[in-house]
Amino acid sequence: MWDKNVLQDLMKEKLAKYKFIIVSNRQPYVFDYVGRKVKCTKTIGGLVTAMDPVMQASEGVWVAASSGDADNSVIDKNNIVKVPPEKSAYSMKLINLTKNEEQGYYYGYSNQALWPLSHIAYRQPNFMHSDWETYKNVNKRFAESVLELFDDKQPFIWLQDYHLTLCAKYIKEKKPEAVSSLFWHIPWPNPEVFRVCPQKTEILEGLLANDLLGFHIKYHCHNFLETCEIELESKVDWEESAVTYKGHKTLIKDFPISVDFESLSEMAGSADVTKKVEDLSFEIDPPYEILALSIDRVDYTKGIIEKIRAVDKFLEKYPEYHKKFVFFQKGALSRLHIKAYKELIDEIQALTEEINWKYRSGNWYPIVLLNKKIDYTTHIALYRACDLCLVGSLHDGMNLVAKEFISANVDIKGILMLSKFTGAARELKDAVLVNPYDTEGFADAIKMAIEIPPNEKKEQIKRMREHIQENNIYKWAGKFISTLIKI
Ligand code: G6P
Repeated sequence: MWDKNVLQDLMKEKLAKYKFIIVSNRQPYVFDYVGRKVKCTKTIGGLVTAMDPVMQASEGVWVAASSGDADNSVIDKNNIVKVPPEKSAYSMKLINLTKNEEQGYYYGYSNQALWPLSHIAYRQPNFMHSDWETYKNVNKRFAESVLELFDDKQPFIWLQDYHLTLCAKYIKEKKPEAVSSLFWHIPWPNPEVFRVCPQKTEILEGLLANDLLGFHIKYHCHNFLETCEIELESKVDWEESAVTYKGHKTLIKDFPISVDFESLSEMAGSADVTKKVEDLSFEIDPPYEILALSIDRVDYTKGIIEKIRAVDKFLEKYPEYHKKFVFFQKGALSRLHIKAYKELIDEIQALTEEINWKYRSGNWYPIVLLNKKIDYTTHIALYRACDLCLVGSLHDGMNLVAKEFISANVDIKGILMLSKFTGAARELKDAVLVNPYDTEGFADAIKMAIEIPPNEKKEQIKRMREHIQENNIYKWAGKFISTLIKI
């Protein structure tokens, strides 16, 4: 069984002679001003959960773009700050991007070209040449920042995600002996979809400069291998799952990301969370007997509109649930400078108002939206308090909300309704699988899920909990690193 200690031991035993470097767009710790004081916040998410303890136990460096308004007040002349502040355990090296760079690289090419291209959610990607130029330059800046860290130790680099497709190429041009890998956290589309990208050859060449390329599921690996076969003069070895391009071999493997089951489970059972579960009236105003919950980043790939439509259809078809059922949608706002994201917030708001007006009766109304930040105790308490958790992504690499919810489900009571188009659906076969494009089918599935007999429900939840307990975030990181070590 993988846990934090097993992962730390692996790093100590196998990676001691290497310089371990993680590179991601988002930083693991953010420094912000609160009044005149500097506050440090640890980023929530699978990658930071798994790698923070590992980095704390190693001499590693984490390179990322700076996003905190007080970051510059804490970094030294080499742009490095030791984190976490109370322990100073490892180095975080920050890159300061200009507004133009952030616009072209992050809001532009990463999130208006590569993001919609990789998620089949019917939003047209926008391939602006100027964004591409900025994206290339920022990838070069990341590569230079990594190269500055090299010393007499062999570098062992782990890049993260679609923001950094060209980084390995720029690193290897200067240091061909560096070991480099990348984990792609979102779906990889099929070749028919990918072929419209004007920069497709450069992107594939950039990715194939890595020695190991990881995706969540086999299906994305197959899509990538097929893409290489069609788009490049490369040798694709399907049996070994590898691509050889210009004499360099890249291994393509699936590593399904996960969560820290034990700590989520423990947190869910804590006294603070238990107290909060008993009274959520501050967050959820209307009275309810059945609580359906969704927690998403407000993004068009998450199917929020589709879920609200399904709730509407459910209440229309099954009026016996009026005044009993409440759907609570918690949204985290992001990428707000992009028009599609701003429009989505307005659309969600308008549709919710319309549906609440349609069904409102006394102090009951069916949909509660919350876009404000909530504390972690409330976040976990919501998972524990709900009867149904709805994950309606139109396309998702994995979806960690589904896995978090099952881990926090310590009362073995909440049902998971999961979109078929998430990576998680390949593992969590005991969830109620839904097609978010099929409003009527989704609505019927809500009724069916509510009415699952308690014993059946318990068995399903238990099986999913066992699966996540074994296939946790430490296994994800451990398997990735062990595979790279073998190479
Ligand atoms: C996805 C991506 C991550 C990204 C996250 C949040 O999960 O795979 O790389 O960090 O979305 O998006 P944001 O743009 O706010 O970093």
